[in-house]
Amino acid sequence: MSTFSLPASSSYKALLQHHSHARTWQLRELFKQDPDRFSRFSVEAAGLFLDYSKNIIDAETLSLLCGLAREARVEAQRDAMFTGARINVTENRAVLHTALRRPRHDRLPLDGEDAVAQVHDVLDRIAGFSERVRSGEWRGHDGREITDIVNIGIGGSYLGPKMACQALRPFAHARLTMHFVSNVDGHDLDALLPQLDPARTLFIVASKTFTTSETMTNAQSARAWMLRGMAEGDLARHFVAVSTNLEAVTRFGIAPENMFPFWDWVGGRYSVWSAIGLPLALSIGIEGFHAFLAGAHEMDTHFREAPLERNLPVLLGLIGIWNRNFLGSDSISIAPYHQDLALFPGYLQQLEMESNGKRVHIDGAPLENATCPVIWGDTGTNGQHAYFQLLHQGTDIVPTDFIAVLKPAHALPHHHERLLANCFAQSEAFMRGKTADEVRAEMQAQNLPADEIAKLIPHRTFPGNRPSTTILLDELTPATLGALIALYEHKVFVQGAIWGINSFDQWGVELGKVLAKNIEAELTGQPDPARHDSSTNGLIARARRCAGH
Ligand code: F6P
Repeated sequence: MSTFSLPASSSYKALLQHHSHARTWQLRELFKQDPDRFSRFSVEAAGLFLDYSKNIIDAETLSLLCGLAREARVEAQRDAMFTGARINVTENRAVLHTALRRPRHDRLPLDGEDAVAQVHDVLDRIAGFSERVRSGEWRGHDGREITDIVNIGIGGSYLGPKMACQALRPFAHARLTMHFVSNVDGHDLDALLPQLDPARTLFIVASKTFTTSETMTNAQSARAWMLRGMAEGDLARHFVAVSTNLEAVTRFGIAPENMFPFWDWVGGRYSVWSAIGLPLALSIGIEGFHAFLAGAHEMDTHFREAPLERNLPVLLGLIGIWNRNFLGSDSISIAPYHQDLALFPGYLQQLEMESNGKRVHIDGAPLENATCPVIWGDTGTNGQHAYFQLLHQGTDIVPTDFIAVLKPAHALPHHHERLLANCFAQSEAFMRGKTADEVRAEMQAQNLPADEIAKLIPHRTFPGNRPSTTILLDELTPATLGALIALYEHKVFVQGAIWGINSFDQWGVELGKVLAKNIEAELTGQPDPARHDSSTNGLIARARRCAGH
């Protein structure tokens, strides 16, 4: 278990000292002073190019940050994860999502078995099943081909497959439409069902635990809806499961041969590489799915082997630490300049915030340092016309990750140049800003009256010096998407190791679940005001009145 404490470390003190100078730096000046800044502060691996030159850093900052990573024993902690040590100490589990993308010939002994062989057994079953559905060999109960696939799952059993299916839309099978139902709010499933022909629909019930209330509620409702038009015995053609819980799956009525397993050493938010990725394999085919895994594996190899100073996930993580713990930013915006990556910010929200949204050290002591910032965002250029105003001129500094793809998957003229121009212009504007002198000169050139100029200058001035990082992909393919997700997974790992927390549990979601169970009983049965505060009692009473109780 890590005993590292960020605030007590000598690297932290050195970085604080360094920060007392760095806080006065201006990015504009840093670029002026060093014409090689872009090549000095950019690096490429696994098909991804990372430009981190528009952050408020210099060579010494980086060297101190790498020193911090060494003092926190990030490399040793990383190796412990890759080799199957039980680093998730609060659940006594190994953390081996990286084993899910290891090639067939690799070996990884775990509890007397070879984890890689287990992984490939399931991958082979996914290959067989997905090819049968795609080819039309697997048919619905009345002999017609499947056209619609509905994944019922939530959190990690939903965000990854949905995001990846959307991101890889150009690779999708023409006959198959993928749908995702996650919310216990019946409006989610209810809006979808009328669009489906039950005889041509395949439901995937995806849940690691197979006890999650939202997923089980939706799965039972979907089952009841199917039974309106078919017999119990027909369901086997229309329901499969992805889970670690064979017993619960069988109890639900899905036969073991229609269940795709995974293991407790795969965290929900790290599970898109496992059978939870079944919708993706169905959509893009098994070769595409293998390419997705291979892209992530390439990033894994880079993370394990590259020196810290040239290591993409390490650099992304360290820059995040610099912005969070020294420059004081408490949120990060994610701006994918690619419409098919629209769900990527939401995916990262779970990955980062559920992993590193922690307030105690791995040894249980309350932390004195800040941990995960708020992660949010939307696609460019949409965000530019919504909240970028705040990013440019607001009182908070929000570092931004720009993600752009150089070659589009469409042939519409002019769009792509315009999109990329916007992406690069935004990071330039964040960095440069616009001084009062520049604003004045511009308005004088337009012959505006002097009093008008004086009035408008403060409003039209941009402070600049707002950090950003740009990630470029040549193309958005299964392999580059795999590498991009793995980049962020390892960034989260690096930061968790430095903050001294367990990135792999999520106890914080439990309390609400327990309270919801009590309240649900009170909404339909007997209210128990002694249990709650006046606000909660008042809300329950209003809901009961409206429902006629
Ligand atoms: O929200 C908590 C959580 O446990 C996530 O970590 C997980 O991805 C999600 O619920 C769904 O869990 P399951 O796959 O077990 O249904």
